[in-house]
Amino acid sequence: MKHYTSIHDIDNINSWIEDAKALKKEPLKHIELGKNKTIGLLFFNSSLRTRLSTQKAALNLGMNPIVMNVSGDAWGIEFGDGTVMNGNTAEHIKEASAVVSQYCDIIAVRAFPTLTDKAKDESEHVMNAFKKYASVPIVSMESATGHPLQGLTDAITIAENAKVSKPKVVLSWAPHVKALPHAVANSFVQAMQKMDIEFVIANPEGYNLNPEITGNTPIYHNQDEAFKNADFVYTKNWSSFEDYGQVKNTDPNWMITKDKLGDAKFMHCLPVRRNVVVEDAVLDTDSSLVIEQANNRTYAAQLVLKKILEKL
Ligand code: CP
Repeated sequence: MKHYTSIHDIDNINSWIEDAKALKKEPLKHIELGKNKTIGLLFFNSSLRTRLSTQKAALNLGMNPIVMNVSGDAWGIEFGDGTVMNGNTAEHIKEASAVVSQYCDIIAVRAFPTLTDKAKDESEHVMNAFKKYASVPIVSMESATGHPLQGLTDAITIAENAKVSKPKVVLSWAPHVKALPHAVANSFVQAMQKMDIEFVIANPEGYNLNPEITGNTPIYHNQDEAFKNADFVYTKNWSSFEDYGQVKNTDPNWMITKDKLGDAKFMHCLPVRRNVVVEDAVLDTDSSLVIEQANNRTYAAQLVLKKILEKL
């Protein structure tokens, strides 16, 4: 593995989960591995967990992290080939990525979708441009269509908390006030499809995710039916994929409540809007795994960086 930009970069999810659990037990065991190596974390968008957990992961491996808010602090980057750069962009990705490659041994990038230009978002033009023009490995800290560090984290958290050998996991859409990307849901689906579990998706009509990603995974438009016998309910809002980026439904009946959840554990990548996506009565009890999930972000990132460092 040179880059980590997709759940498909995981060759064996069960062995990765075991490796991450071992790192969690002894986080500083490989502190010499990243000595004198630098990771650059480039953020085109906001973050709390990804920003801090990826730095923490790098520090646990002895690396030096450099962090930059690209959108606010760097020159505007041009991604188009052959563009006459007489507009708002001042620097081409060809120079930017080559320059950063000289300062960093690994580059991690966060770049959200436009949610207005489906073709552009599906092409992953930012992440792929870094992969094309940088001379060092690239790690996705969430791209237009995927959040593979989150997906790996979620697989680790489910494996750690499963009480039965083949748990039932439900990915449920929930309402939100804004149009949100599909990235977290996509990577969660891809991670769950690699695991030996019963996995279904619940979302309102008009909210099916990209069928190339959901494949044969059963999709319910009735949340109650999907939740029957669930061990884990993973909740996320996403905007319509079909009517790309549109908010067509804000039905509060899709909010996750303690009643609906029953004995199932609640998961969410965070940040989460209380009493819109999920009620307090879920988050404020031991039904919720969200804090443990956020903790596992460090070990998912640490495992990815370790695997890349071992190949440098
Ligand atoms: N879950 C997640 O990626 O959180 P941040 O957006 O805060 O990094």
